[in-house]
Amino acid sequence: MEINKAVFPVAGLGTRTLPATKVLAKEMLTLVDRPIIQHAVEEALSAGIRELIFVTAETKRIIRDHFQANERLERELEQRGKQELLELVKNIPPSGTVCRYVIQHEPLGLGHAVLCARPLLDDEPFAVILPDDLIYHDERTCLQQMVDVYREKNASVVAVENVAREQVSRYGIIETHNGVDGINRMKSIVEKPAPDKAPSTLAVVGRYIFTPRIMPLLETTPRGAGNEIQLTDAIAALLGQEDVYLCEFRGRRYDCGSILGLMKANVEYALRHEAVGAEFRSYLDDLIKD
Ligand code: G1P
Repeated sequence: MEINKAVFPVAGLGTRTLPATKVLAKEMLTLVDRPIIQHAVEEALSAGIRELIFVTAETKRIIRDHFQANERLERELEQRGKQELLELVKNIPPSGTVCRYVIQHEPLGLGHAVLCARPLLDDEPFAVILPDDLIYHDERTCLQQMVDVYREKNASVVAVENVAREQVSRYGIIETHNGVDGINRMKSIVEKPAPDKAPSTLAVVGRYIFTPRIMPLLETTPRGAGNEIQLTDAIAALLGQEDVYLCEFRGRRYDCGSILGLMKANVEYALRHEAVGAEFRSYLDDLIKD
């Protein structure tokens, strides 16, 4: 079955980006010309997904506002004859896209956030995108690459990348079975291990495709690391029932949940930007020469 739905867990507080996120939702921080969440949504759309499920908090109404029509703005742009801008704002999201919202009332972790979306998933396979992990690729997005693996294996898929050993305690860390066809399979997964206990340095980054079997497992997953319901623990349980594959994606990842990551992403996306990239590059060249 095709992947038609994506879940965006966006209820988090954004403590790593304070004070910018004292009021503003961290997913609404700007990456060059659009909010981070829009980049994540565009990646889902690139993979053919048309139903977007935002697991959000009561205080983060601004995310819903961003994906709803802004009639006043549209009227103004129309009156001023700004057709291009009108099309731009009307296209967020493009027609044919359905946005749904579910409130996560308590901050019980990523596993709990995904579980909150269960009533909207109708027992279908689905993707999960963590907007903090921004992944750039100039040809095929990370989720497109993952859908390729999903279609081939008809099984759950997680995106993975090697990280420095001193950073393993920030991630779900994987042990692998090497596949003969170049697609590796997960052998085990552990959430945020200490560097000396980690089975490898292969980390899960914020992209998942799940078969519906993950949901009943999430229902019964007890609180784990950080006293939260961990998606990683449900994946470990899933491994007891079916295979889970890895997508060692091509692309560049930025941690937009941190100030430094967001700054790096802004600089690199600005350099690639069609309208301002060239001028920004010569500005940076001059700045560095001084
Ligand atoms: C979550 C997951 C972790 C994964 C990471 C990717 O952690 O629990 O397994 O490696 O996202 O960014 P968090 O960043 O929410 O602490």
